[in-house]
Amino acid sequence: MDKKLDLLRLKRHEAMQGGGPVRIESQHKKGKLTARERLHFLLDEGSFQEIGMLVTHRSIDFGMEKEKYPGDGVVTGYGTINGRLTYVFSQDFTVFGGSLSETHAEKICKIMDLALKNGAPLIGLNDSGGARIQEGVVSLGGYADIFYRNTMASGVIPQISAIMGPCAGGAVYSPAITDFILMVEHTSYMFVTGPNVVKTVTHEVVTSEELGGANTHASKSGVTHFACANEIAAIQHIKSLLSYMPQNCEDKAPAAPYENGDELRPELNTILPSIASQPYDIREVIDHIIDKASFLEVHKDFAENIVVGFARLAGRSIGIVANQPAFLAGVLDIHSSTKAARFVRFCDSFNIPLLVFEDVPGFLPGTDQEWNAIITNGAKLLYAFCEATVPRVTVITRKAYGGAYDVMNSKHIGADMNFAWPSAEIAVMGAKGAAEIIFKREITKAEDHEAKWLEMEQLYSDTFANPYRAAERGFIDEVIEPAETRIKLIQAFKMLENKVVNNPRKKHGNIPL
Ligand code: COA
Repeated sequence: MDKKLDLLRLKRHEAMQGGGPVRIESQHKKGKLTARERLHFLLDEGSFQEIGMLVTHRSIDFGMEKEKYPGDGVVTGYGTINGRLTYVFSQDFTVFGGSLSETHAEKICKIMDLALKNGAPLIGLNDSGGARIQEGVVSLGGYADIFYRNTMASGVIPQISAIMGPCAGGAVYSPAITDFILMVEHTSYMFVTGPNVVKTVTHEVVTSEELGGANTHASKSGVTHFACANEIAAIQHIKSLLSYMPQNCEDKAPAAPYENGDELRPELNTILPSIASQPYDIREVIDHIIDKASFLEVHKDFAENIVVGFARLAGRSIGIVANQPAFLAGVLDIHSSTKAARFVRFCDSFNIPLLVFEDVPGFLPGTDQEWNAIITNGAKLLYAFCEATVPRVTVITRKAYGGAYDVMNSKHIGADMNFAWPSAEIAVMGAKGAAEIIFKREITKAEDHEAKWLEMEQLYSDTFANPYRAAERGFIDEVIEPAETRIKLIQAFKMLENKVVNNPRKKHGNIPL
């Protein structure tokens, strides 16, 4: 038995070495942790249980049969994060550059199948040179096996991808299907075709960082939801994100401890600028309403005219979608619509109630928006709200104009409770533009066009630039003092806790894409 135990210990020891000390040193020199170090920081101490430690590849081309590493470039298994079961895979760049072989893919698929069957989140730590070049098509097949599982698991268990090194070619599509992507600044990149191919095809000269680094994807493309300063920050972010989520779509997100206190927030009564056209930061409003320091903003640097993120209200997880008057006046455009739609759909998939703050002057005009399909893209957000069955509450702080009023979680599309502050202006459009159209004749006939226009603008504003017309109709459930907002929201979400809505049975909807 001793010899047999020795053999097992030797094999385990070998597997722990990855691609060997030289490659591990080179990994560290690049400012990167190894696959196992990452898992050490991610999972609760001593909780990691490895699966498939001794798996090796089956390739016999190019002398590959002589070069085998137990584990084959990916560490897979399960453990706990803050006491909650989580499935993980962590690609090991020190073994064939973390490239994906047939067996590497099988290991990942095994973990994904377990995660799906057992209803727990899946975290992928990606650091890979892509398809194992020596294996050819079986490696490509391995990717497709993963994509298929990502899709089947979508909306059933939360899936999070952290990009901690290269992620190129087909490899990008697994993270793209998952719910959240985190990238590490300066040491990770994602692109379908790298700088060399770009140069050949389009003659553009661009670095990997410019083309697909963390900041590029966080601000320009929106591919990543988070750009993290380093790997430890990324790992902390994953843990934080998970704390707002349930284990699966049948579960509820865990509640955080919360002590009932004085819920009035008098400072909110003076938080808006006195002039309606002036900007303010909606994040300040959010911070005054939610539990202290509980806001985790998602997609912070992308489409900043809308703010989305997780928060807690009286200890319960909520998802917030808020127009941001401090950026482009909070207008809805292509990117803000898709950003918010995706977030709404995540929250709805995982039973996280939605809170909407509305201050929106409408959709962004222009050829760029129209030619790039603001119609289709704006419809995504509309559709996402319409089909969401979680508790949904809206607070209109100021402008709610035009079609954007309908889109931003209006009563008509299924919101449960709609509040408005006295500063709300719920109308088809701003008073100036409205007066110009409907009082065109009066303005043209008048001796002093300007004065008449102003008079008509005031008339329209007095009639519609308030929340009371909508409240009379019942489109607004209650006009509230800003100071009361937190109390009203806590009560509303408590009242809606057991909400059940069953949308018509169908195979699946056909969201505009
Ligand atoms: N298949 C097999 N082995 C791969 C690989 C792949 N796709 N990508 C990298 N490797 C191996 C390298 O041969 C090298 O092996 P070694 O340690 O035995 O020398 C090791 O991984 C590290 O690669 P290296 O090129 O030295 O690292 P780098 O940090 O300088 O560059 C990449 C990283 C990813 C940019 C580079 O390896 C690369 O371009 N890989 C190919 C990417 C690709 O085209 N993939 C296929 C399409 S999806």
